[in-house]
Amino acid sequence: MEIKIVKTDCPKEKPDSSTLGFGKIFTDHMFIMDYSREQGWHDARIVPFGYISLHPASTVLHYGSEIFEGLKAYRRADGKVQLFRPIENVRRMNNSAERLCLPQIDEKDAMQILETFVSVEQDWTPSAEGTSLYLRPFMFGNDESLGVHAVHNATYMIIASPVGSYYKEGINPVKIMIEDEDVRAVRGGTGYAKCGGNYAASNRAGERAEQKGYSQVLWLDGVERRYIEEVGAMNVMFKIGGEIVTPKLTGSILPGITRKSCIEVLKGEGYTVNERLLSVDELGEALKNGTLEEAWGCGTAAVVSPIGELCYKGVKYTINNGEIGKVTQHLYDTLTGIQWGKIEDKYGWTYPIK
Ligand code: PLP
Ligand code: COI
Repeated sequence: MEIKIVKTDCPKEKPDSSTLGFGKIFTDHMFIMDYSREQGWHDARIVPFGYISLHPASTVLHYGSEIFEGLKAYRRADGKVQLFRPIENVRRMNNSAERLCLPQIDEKDAMQILETFVSVEQDWTPSAEGTSLYLRPFMFGNDESLGVHAVHNATYMIIASPVGSYYKEGINPVKIMIEDEDVRAVRGGTGYAKCGGNYAASNRAGERAEQKGYSQVLWLDGVERRYIEEVGAMNVMFKIGGEIVTPKLTGSILPGITRKSCIEVLKGEGYTVNERLLSVDELGEALKNGTLEEAWGCGTAAVVSPIGELCYKGVKYTINNGEIGKVTQHLYDTLTGIQWGKIEDKYGWTYPIK
């Protein structure tokens, strides 16, 4: 595929990498490509970062036809930049597109676009400990009409942001509240797709949790409000006695790439890992009788994020004395070690940029 590159005349100053938050600063360029049913994907281009203009009737503004991805470029000690399992993001984006009736992007084209964009912006990849260049591919429906139907026109873009840690707590344990009112997603809905609407629906619970002093909520399933699903915008895992448990992918859970990597690392090291239904009653029992040894969220932004306190129906339970557990720390060290090129990647997950 041909990608036109128009470089900016006025590159911005790079930020001090010790003060990076999450997703507030953007690089000099962005990728854009247009789709129509007649022409397919066309006009792939990397252009100076800037505002885009949309027709006020544009589908995304009314009916939420939007999907996105999130992955990072990491600066290795030798100065080279690498991605982590990018093909998984490409495939998940196409699965999300299928669910939202947005167009597919050929896997090879999507990889070429990502690689070309990152190679143009790679100087923006920070090098301080724990920092990276967060990449945000996204696609939206762009018909100039108020009719409700699968779109005929769409736009695909990638923007990039140098980032530090996602939670202000960094790798320190966070407090989580079990949410028994709102649900994030339902089976048959869009939970397994990474679409903007899922996040819009989750904000109210997140906001209420924050007001009560919690970082995020633990979601229960939308049918029985009984089974654990995810934590905030991350997958969740527990160590209960000798078993590592993570909710199985029932359709309302996003199939996280970090989740998949954690499972592969742990299974490869002989841990018992089960993807199964885990009810809030079973979790409550494990909290009360002390068999819940560790709990953590996992996702690209935070990698792994230990849970130090869980609150359910007003009762607070401390996990592992509010400290990061052994397995959680081990996963953090292993995944970040591979991502930043500090330890050998025996899985073939890293993808160096030329
Ligand atoms: N669950 C939700 C709802 C998410 O938004 C994310 C983040 O992308 C994840 C889980 C974790 O997925 P991944 O590990 O692929 O980043
Ligand atoms: C993640 O990477 O874990 C996320 O959930 C990203 C978030 C900003 C949507």
